[in-house]
Amino acid sequence: MITLGRVAAVKCGRHVNRFFRRLLSDSCQSVADIRRFIAENTEPCGPKSLTPEIRLRLFTPNCRFWRERPELWPFGDPYWAIYWPGGQALSRYVLDRPEVCLGRTVLDLGCGCGAAAIAAKLCGAAHVVANDIDKVASVATQMNCELNGLEPPICVTDNMIDSEPDPFDVILLGDMFYDEALATTLHRWLDCCIKTHGTNVLIGDPGRAQFEGHKIRRLLQELACFQLPESVREENYGLTCSTVWRYCPEL
Ligand SMILES: C[S@@+](CC[C@H](N)C(=O)[O-])C[C@H]1O[C@@H](n2cnc3c(N)ncnc32)[C@H](O)[C@@H]1O
Repeated sequence: MITLGRVAAVKCGRHVNRFFRRLLSDSCQSVADIRRFIAENTEPCGPKSLTPEIRLRLFTPNCRFWRERPELWPFGDPYWAIYWPGGQALSRYVLDRPEVCLGRTVLDLGCGCGAAAIAAKLCGAAHVVANDIDKVASVATQMNCELNGLEPPICVTDNMIDSEPDPFDVILLGDMFYDEALATTLHRWLDCCIKTHGTNVLIGDPGRAQFEGHKIRRLLQELACFQLPESVREENYGLTCSTVWRYCPEL
């Protein structure tokens, strides 16, 4: 599976040959092209994560772009091709406690590969929306739903943060506190969602510095903590566990 270092390398490579990337990008924009690209450049994975019952198309060492020059990567950073430790814990928690999503309207914000949305669907959520500003992530989420024999959720690629909150019962946030600026806007918007609709906000995070140091951290109730499987630890530079929190603001 791709590592954070590899993501950084892909990111770095973006600056090396922008022209070439744009040329490729322009020729890869249709959903059919993106689907073909994902199918050709990922492998279905399952057993090694915290949720072996969910299969996901991800980067593995057998995939071309695991070793390929990052400047040849035709899209933005491939966060959707990784099943992040925060998302793994969150999805595990949802699967273990189906009552959290059963019959509820659920938003998986920053869905990436779509695992938390899939977990919510498997638990009988009434309505699931998967949101990611990366169009490729939304296609990957649809393909991963199909891989698990599920109808794809509604996939939204607009930036919902700071928009008028919709009346979701549950918002799922897997590994979304990896960037300080994003964490701050997200925090503000979550307050608004809770104040307006009483939304239940669940966060999965493996203890990233940006999360641990953020002021939202003091307003969280721990729900569960999961030891990460060995392979996930190896791919995530020594992270050993991942925690699920409920956001309980003092509004
Ligand atoms: C670290 S990944 C986590 C993916 C997934 N939740 C998981 O745990 O496997 C963060 C994801 O958030 C998405 N993202 C970043 N900013 C966003 C925003 N403002 N709205 C929605 N998604 C966003 C990225 O494209 C990326 O797919």
